[in-house]
Amino acid sequence: MELVRPVCEMVHREAEKLLCPGAVAIDGTMGNGEDTAFLCEAVGTNGKVYAFDVQDDAIEGTRRRLKNAGLLDRVVMIKDGHQNIRAYVKEAVDVAVFNLGYLPGGDHAITTLAPTTVQAIGECLALLKEEGAVLIGLYWGHQNGAEEKKAVEAFLTTLSPAHWAIAETRFPNREKAPLFIEIQKKRYGHGNKSIQTKDDSENN
Ligand SMILES: C[S@@+](CC[C@H](N)C(=O)[O-])C[C@H]1O[C@@H](n2cnc3c(N)ncnc32)[C@H](O)[C@@H]1O
Repeated sequence: MELVRPVCEMVHREAEKLLCPGAVAIDGTMGNGEDTAFLCEAVGTNGKVYAFDVQDDAIEGTRRRLKNAGLLDRVVMIKDGHQNIRAYVKEAVDVAVFNLGYLPGGDHAITTLAPTTVQAIGECLALLKEEGAVLIGLYWGHQNGAEEKKAVEAFLTTLSPAHWAIAETRFPNREKAPLFIEIQKKRYGHGNKSIQTKDDSENN
């Protein structure tokens, strides 16, 4: 039995634990729609998935995929940057996933970017229900990947351990291997919608 699985499977395995019928999820990087389709299955007919991408090819490919799978009824597909999530998602969220990098089979020059990725993760944290999670597959072999990885890891260190449980899985014997990052909102100690940084905690 293989214990160490690819990052995209790790993301699905953890998301599955938190998603039940009727749940609300975000796919911050729709791409070819593999994660979007998975989330749509997991939330069931009464659930909802908000899926973001900036490329028409991603949106159209994913739309076809979901249509063929009979899953279009539960998805809101948004052609906009995930940094603008707040403009579209007005309800509390169980799980948000990000698969950072470029569109497989697409233009490798169009990648997720450090500032917008960090902003989007922060927006998702602010939307999470208690025990909800942001799950990230961080593929950093691309041209902007090292900067993005550095920015995401720096951001994670600012989050208060009283409010956020964070783990990062690495593959130390593979060069530029992706990382799997999970950030789970703890059950206690907060009632507002702002993200809880270490600074926030010290000032409260
Ligand atoms: C690694 S791919 C995602 C793969 C996808 N989850 C799947 O299942 O196929 C990354 C995607 O992020 C998209 N992207 C880049 N910048 C973005 C942004 N600011 N907001 C939303 N999506 C973005 C790219 O267009 C690309 O399709």
